[in-house]
Amino acid sequence: MRIVAKGLTYTYNPKSPFASQALKGVDIVIEEGEFFGIIGHTGSGKSTFVQHLNALIRLTGGSLTVGDYDLADKKCKFLELRSKVGMVFQYPEYQLFAETVEKDVMFGLKNFHKEMKEEEMRTAVREALERVDLNYEEVKDKSPFELSGGQRRRVAIAGVIVTRPEILILDEPAAGLDPLGKKEIMQLLHAIHGSWCKTVIIVSHDMDEISENCTRAAVFSEGKVVMEDTPAAIFCRSDELVSLGLDIPVTAKCARLLKERGIEVQTDFTCDDFIGRVLALWKERGKADAQ
Ligand SMILES: Nc1ncnc2c1ncn2[C@@H]1O[C@H](COP(=O)(O)OP(=O)(O)OP(=O)(O)O)[C@@H](O)[C@H]1O
Ligand SMILES: [Mg+2]
Repeated sequence: MRIVAKGLTYTYNPKSPFASQALKGVDIVIEEGEFFGIIGHTGSGKSTFVQHLNALIRLTGGSLTVGDYDLADKKCKFLELRSKVGMVFQYPEYQLFAETVEKDVMFGLKNFHKEMKEEEMRTAVREALERVDLNYEEVKDKSPFELSGGQRRRVAIAGVIVTRPEILILDEPAAGLDPLGKKEIMQLLHAIHGSWCKTVIIVSHDMDEISENCTRAAVFSEGKVVMEDTPAAIFCRSDELVSLGLDIPVTAKCARLLKERGIEVQTDFTCDDFIGRVLALWKERGKADAQ
């Protein structure tokens, strides 16, 4: 399902003294199959935008289509859309509430598939838990509170992917995890992207995460999209990002320092590519010096 937003606007508490315009004309296209990153300063409208994609926030200005669903159409099948566009909020583990892991994951399914038989549901829950690398037999009867933080986050993700959404959106999926936990969750999202959900969209403040993982990304600033490109093209514009108050990947920082010393590194800003190219330049220099 392709996502196309044109001139999307949104104001919280309109017609009140507390009115706050969160989106000021967002134009964006996210193709089916992408692993898409959304970055931007705090308050730039990222969460407001992604909550439009499964109609958690109803469209009030501009146009938005997700596949064949036209979200401006009052007759749009919103419940069906929600089962196809899964949303994982920031720190989703805090929203687990059922007595057991199995009941929690099943809750999402019951909401969308009232016609499903108990046995079919159990199978779907088992598959979702296994997809997030949890052992179904081991965790199904446990209280979510008996699990580690990382495991709880996986349960929360299972509760969303259990409906097999075509698009999976995650707001800061790696926030609060240690470096290994971050790496594991990103690997998991790639595995889900390759097998269950055609499109994955992550909102992230971590530029290294964006440059390492995303096929394309958009930069939000003050309720608008100011850049939409591959991470390599976006992080080439590091001066602009810095002037927007944003961080840049550690590779882009190193590239800037090298440039100040007269060394230009052409890189896509992934660690592997950056190190490979710096080593190649080093070898070339060594050869030139030896001659
Ligand atoms: N429930 C709300 N009521 C009123 N204003 C809100 C509400 N949620 C967000 N806003 C305002 O809308 C604007 C955009 O907020 P949003 O949460 O979409 O930004 P964000 O880019 O996700 O920020 P962050 O990086 O901090 O998560 C901000 O000015 C924010 O204060
Ligand atoms: Mg947010």
